[in-house]
Amino acid sequence: MTTTRRQALIATASLAIGAVLPFRAGAFVFPPEVLQDKYPADPSFDAAVSLSDLEAIAHRRLDAMSEAYIDGAAGDEITLRWNREAYDKIKILPRVLHDVSVVDTRTTVLGIPLDFPILLGPTALHKLAHPDGELATARAAASAHALMGLSTMSSTTLEDVAAASNSPKWFQLYVQKDKGFTAELVQRAVKSGYKALVVTVDTPTEGARNRQQRAGFHLPPGVDLANLRGLKTASGRAPGTEREVFENILPDKLTWKEIEWLQSLSSLPVLLKGILNPEDAALAVKQGVAGVIVSNHGARNLDTVPATIEALPRITDRVAGRITVLVDGGVRRGTDVLKALARGANAVLVGRPIFYGLSAAGEAGVVKMLGILRKEFEMAMALSGRTRISEIVPEVIWKE
Ligand code: FNR
Repeated sequence: MTTTRRQALIATASLAIGAVLPFRAGAFVFPPEVLQDKYPADPSFDAAVSLSDLEAIAHRRLDAMSEAYIDGAAGDEITLRWNREAYDKIKILPRVLHDVSVVDTRTTVLGIPLDFPILLGPTALHKLAHPDGELATARAAASAHALMGLSTMSSTTLEDVAAASNSPKWFQLYVQKDKGFTAELVQRAVKSGYKALVVTVDTPTEGARNRQQRAGFHLPPGVDLANLRGLKTASGRAPGTEREVFENILPDKLTWKEIEWLQSLSSLPVLLKGILNPEDAALAVKQGVAGVIVSNHGARNLDTVPATIEALPRITDRVAGRITVLVDGGVRRGTDVLKALARGANAVLVGRPIFYGLSAAGEAGVVKMLGILRKEFEMAMALSGRTRISEIVPEVIWKE
C-alpha cells in the first residue's frame, strides 16, 4: 500500500500526540478526500516545533487580506499585546521529587470527557486559511481527540461540519435581529448533534478593526457565510463582510432576557462567551447558564480591556466552582495552559493557532498544532511536579 504525503503528515502530526504518555493513540480512518494533496503542506511544516513556527509559516502563505483579518485586533492592538504579555509575566513555582512517570491530562467539561483541556475555539471563515476550511478542522479535532467550537460565521454549513467527524462539537451563536432565524439556527445545531450553545455576548457592535479595514477585508470568491445563506442586508444583498453582519444582522439589544429565551429554545447547555467582569459572571450564575468563557474576543472588539488571564482569577473567585469557567486569548504554549488552570479555568480555547495550522498543512496542521500544545502542557505538568489536573492549584504560580 502506498502512503501519500498527506497520510504521512497526519500520521506524524498524530504521533506527537500521546508521545509522552500512555494516551489513546489516534486510530481514525480518514475519508479519501482528505488524503488528496490538493493544497500541499508547506515544505517547512515537518520542522515546525512550536506554535510560533506554524505562525511563521502562515505568515508566508496567507494572502495579505486574510492575514490582516486573522491576526488583526481592535484599535492600537494594545489588548492583543497584553493577552500575550500577561502570560509571559506569570512565573511557575515547581515542585520536585514527585513521581511524574505518568501524567494524566484528562478532564471533563460539561459532561464531555476530554483527553486534555485545550479546545478549538469558535472562529469564522476557516476557508481563508485552507480550501477544506472547517471540514479540515473538524477532522483534525477527531484525530486529536479535541472538542471543536463552530462559529455561526463559518464558511461551511454546520450540518456539513457535524458530518465531517465524530468529535464532540459546540455551536457558537451570534444571536440575530431576526429571532425566527436565530431559533432556526439553534434547531439546526440541535438536530446536527452539537453538544452546547456558546452565545457570544461581547459583540453588540463591531470594534475598530483598523488592520482589517486598511486591508479592505471582504469575502474572497468561493467563501461565504454558509450558515447565514438566505439572510440579506438592508440593501437586499448577502452580507459580504463581517462588518455588514455586525451592522445589519446582529442586534445591539442583546440582554439577559434574550439569554433566557435562548435557554428555553433547547435543552443544550448555554455558555456565555466574552465575560470579563465578575459582576456579569455572578449574573450568569444567577441566570443558570452552564458556563462562561472569559474572553476579550482575541482583542478584536474593545481595545485596552485587560488580558483575559488577568481577568480570570476575579471571575473564578466570584463563580466559586458553581459553573464551568473557560478562558481564551493568547494561549500559545503548554505553560499558558498550566497557568490558566492554576488560576481556576476548567480548560482553555485557542483561536488564531487554528488558522496557523490550517494554513501550514490543513487538517494535519491543526492536528500538529494541538499535538504540540498538548505535549508542551504534559511537559509543563511533569516539570512542575503535577500529575493530574486536580493538582494544578493556585500554588503552581509564583507569588511576588
Ligand atoms: C475569532 N473569534 C470569534 N469569536 C466568536 O465568538 N465568533 C466568531 O465568529 C469568531 N471569529 C473569529 C475569527 C478570527 C479570525 C479570530 C482570530 C477570532 C474569537 C475567538 O473565538 C477567540 O475568542 C480568540 O481568537 C482567542 O484568542 P487567540 O487564541 O486568537 O489569541
